Amino acid sequence: MNIDTLRAKDKLPNHIAFIIDGNGRWARKRGLPRMVGHKFGFDNLRHIVHEVASIGIPYMSVYAFSTENWGRPKDEVEGLMQLFKKSFSEAFNADEDNIRIVYSGDKTRFDEQLQQLMDDTVQKTAKHSGMTLNICLNYGGRMEITKAVNELLASGVTSVTEQDISNHLYTAALPDPDLVVRTSGEIRTSNFMPWQTTYAEWYFDKVMWPSFSKKHLMKALNSYAKRDRRHGKIKG
Ligand code: FPP
Repeated sequence: MNIDTLRAKDKLPNHIAFIIDGNGRWARKRGLPRMVGHKFGFDNLRHIVHEVASIGIPYMSVYAFSTENWGRPKDEVEGLMQLFKKSFSEAFNADEDNIRIVYSGDKTRFDEQLQQLMDDTVQKTAKHSGMTLNICLNYGGRMEITKAVNELLASGVTSVTEQDISNHLYTAALPDPDLVVRTSGEIRTSNFMPWQTTYAEWYFDKVMWPSFSKKHLMKALNSYAKRDRRHGKIKG
């Protein structure tokens, strides 16, 4: 089905998330340094952000740097930090595409310049009424749930509800993802939004992220459209 048909049948996700895996392998296969893969990965992310915004999907999340990624070689971590600095707001065509940018994760581990850039980007794009792009940076699902529980304990409560925990996640203001797309053929969830994805549909594609194109996006959306989402209930 094409986008118009998916839209007419109300089969598009409200929130699509991407685990953008395979940049390093994409580069290595071409005899290039891993960092070149991340640069192409970033360019492709811009392209896919534009496509998703153009389709009219209201929320998109991207897992760009996990709490575990600090364990990579120092020069790769440093290269990624530089890439993050270079890439904020304008790089996502936030104005032209009317995109609002928000972050999930613990930004306090980043240097001050990067933190400032992140804050400025959120502020500058807050007026936009189009797609919300949630960038997960220094994000880990277990860390996020632990943070929520600690905040609740600090507030003096002795018991909590599911809603209390949801309200203390980075994603409190966002709907849960409906569809999570992971590239590079890895079939695991890697600490990505464990709380929020309990009823998400997962889609795994063997393609490495820098080569993930509109064609692959359409395949993912069509796969999602065929899923029978019962949320633990039976059809009635
Ligand atoms: C996974 O590929 C990718 C990353 C850990 C980093 C991706 C980050 C970007 C493309 C920059 C995005 C920038 C912003 C501002 C959102 P991998 O290195 O794990 O690939 P591999 O599994 O083949 O080694």
